Amino acid sequence: NRPDELSGALLAWYDRHQRVLPWRARGGKAPDPYHVWLSEIMLQQTTVQAVKPYFEGFVACWPTVKDLAKAPLEAVLDRWAGLGYYARARNLHACACKIVADFGGRFPSDEKTLKTLPGIGDYTAGAIAAIAFGKVAAAVDGNVERVISRLRFIDEPLPKAKKAIRAETLVLVPDRRAGDFAQSLMDLGATICTVRAPKCGICPWEGACIAHAKGRMEELPIKPAK
Ligand code: ADE
Repeated sequence: NRPDELSGALLAWYDRHQRVLPWRARGGKAPDPYHVWLSEIMLQQTTVQAVKPYFEGFVACWPTVKDLAKAPLEAVLDRWAGLGYYARARNLHACACKIVADFGGRFPSDEKTLKTLPGIGDYTAGAIAAIAFGKVAAAVDGNVERVISRLRFIDEPLPKAKKAIRAETLVLVPDRRAGDFAQSLMDLGATICTVRAPKCGICPWEGACIAHAKGRMEELPIKPAK
C-alpha cells in the first residue's frame, strides 16, 4: 500500500492493457507536446472515440503548432465542426498563436506557465507537464476523481473533495513515468473503475481500495447537493 507499490502495480497493468490511441507515443518515446495539448483540449468534453478522427484530421492538416497558428481561425472552426463547445476551438487557435509569438513555437513545460495560455487550466496544464515532459504533476479529470476518491475513500461531496483528491493523486505520482502514470489513471477510470458496476475483480488496486473493502464503490465520488 505504499505509494510506489501502488503506482508500480498500476504501471504494470498499463503496460499490458493501455488503449492504443493516436496521440500516445509508442515504444517509450516521448510524445509530441503539440499532440498532447491538442488531444487534451479535444478530450475535455468529448469521448475518446469521437475525438480520434478529429485529432487525425487536425494533425494531417496542421502538422505543427506553427502551422495551426498560421491557419485562418475560420478554417480551424470548420474543421472543429461537430466536436461542440466552440470556445475550445477559438482558444485552441489563440493558444497556438501565443505559443508561436511568445515561446518561439515551443510549448512551455511547467504548469504555472502553461496555465497562462488560453484554454489551459489546472487539468490540461498537469496533463501536458506530465505526459509531454515527464514532470511530476497531477491531471485530475472526472475519471481520476472517481478512481482516487474510491481508493482513499474520500467521502466529502464534490467540488469540496477536489483538494483532497488532488493531494492524494500527487502523493502517488512516481518520479519516473509520470506521464504514463497520468494516462494509466485515465484508462483505469474509463475501463475498470467505471461509474456503475466497476470491474474490481480485475483491478490492480483491488487489494488497496478502501471503497472496495467497504463495498461502497458506486457511492463515490459524492456529487454536489443540488
Ligand atoms: N482523457 C483525457 N485525456 C486522455 C488521455 N491522454 N488518454 C485517454 N483518455 C483521456
